[in-house]
Amino acid sequence: MDKVRVCLIGAGRVAKVHGSNVKTYIPSSEVVAVVDKDEGVARKLAEELGIAHVFEDHQKALCWGRFDAVVVTTPTFTHHQIVVDAARAGKHMFCEKPIALTLQEADSMIEECNKNGVKLQIGFMRRFDPEFTLAKKKVEEKIIGELLLIKSTGRGPGLPPEWAWDIEKSGGMLAEVASHDFDALMWFAQSRLETVEAIAANYRCPELKTKYPHFYDTAVVVGTFYKGKMGIIDMSCPVNYGYDARMELLGSEGVMAVGDTRKNSLSYCTREKGIIHPQYLSWQQRFKEAYIGELQHFIQAVISNTPPFVSGEDGRRCLAAIISSNYSIQIGKRVRVVY
Ligand SMILES: NC(=O)c1ccc[n+]([C@@H]2O[C@H](COP(=O)([O-])OP(=O)(O)OC[C@H]3O[C@@H](n4cnc5c(N)ncnc54)[C@H](O)[C@@H]3O)[C@@H](O)[C@H]2O)c1
Repeated sequence: MDKVRVCLIGAGRVAKVHGSNVKTYIPSSEVVAVVDKDEGVARKLAEELGIAHVFEDHQKALCWGRFDAVVVTTPTFTHHQIVVDAARAGKHMFCEKPIALTLQEADSMIEECNKNGVKLQIGFMRRFDPEFTLAKKKVEEKIIGELLLIKSTGRGPGLPPEWAWDIEKSGGMLAEVASHDFDALMWFAQSRLETVEAIAANYRCPELKTKYPHFYDTAVVVGTFYKGKMGIIDMSCPVNYGYDARMELLGSEGVMAVGDTRKNSLSYCTREKGIIHPQYLSWQQRFKEAYIGELQHFIQAVISNTPPFVSGEDGRRCLAAIISSNYSIQIGKRVRVVY
């Protein structure tokens, strides 16, 4: 296969990023169809990106079938059904994080992909970010010795779409916003989280309490790994000041910081405003290269028939830690992660 034909399923926020990245940066791939249950939304994206075919239902797209792979960018509660159906139709799969809502769903998605011989890559784009990648390499070279403590901060400027405010549909903000932090922690630690203790609160959006009583916008997770390290995640959204993804890694011989709120080295200064560094305003901006990199990797995995570097199992272990963290919030105690 020298050109991978892609069907985008979902035409919302993240679909725009992936669709335009394929068109602009990945000549070995082409988006040939887009699906959205809101056909107007699908049509609009198709016009913007020059996509020839529009469907309002993924089953209709699969029946038509003239593509090799799907990029699943629908809300989390729909991932399971779409991935299972597409795997049975023999399509390779790039699925946005979090993989699904339950471990049973994740298991059946992984099983169907394996059974039908199709790839499954999960959208943990931080693993393709040049800074995170370099940090990982330096950690492996033991530049700071043995890792002891890993901290990850994930904060978003605005609220996600309304479906995500419902914990039953999104897995809560730990799944919607902090999935990337859970993945980064376990990727750097080269170990799964063994225990987690989480606290959460709704500080910023009291108006959502009536309709979504379990909604939280700020959370802290303190975890231990099987390989004897500690991890901390702090997440919050909407923080208004910009998009903020940073890590700090403490090792036996030193410390490492990854990421910055500053967009670049530009700064300016006036008497009235003081020193100003422009900041990252969105995840689309902060991880621009990483979003391109993860899809280039997926397309290459399909072309060369090699396993994607971020697997369904990676998505599943993250989901397990998120589900256990949500349970810890609920019962107010430290829990062992159930894998
Ligand atoms: N990797 C990242 O950084 C990142 C960033 C944002 C969102 N996400 C993930 O991507 C997924 C989508 O998030 P979003 O913010 O783009 O959501 P969104 O609400 O902006 O877009 C989702 C689209 O899917 C459509 N849709 C809903 N159900 C459908 C179905 N059954 N079939 C076809 N279309 C359907 C909706 O009409 C909507 O247009 C979520 O799982 C989210 O967690 C990942």
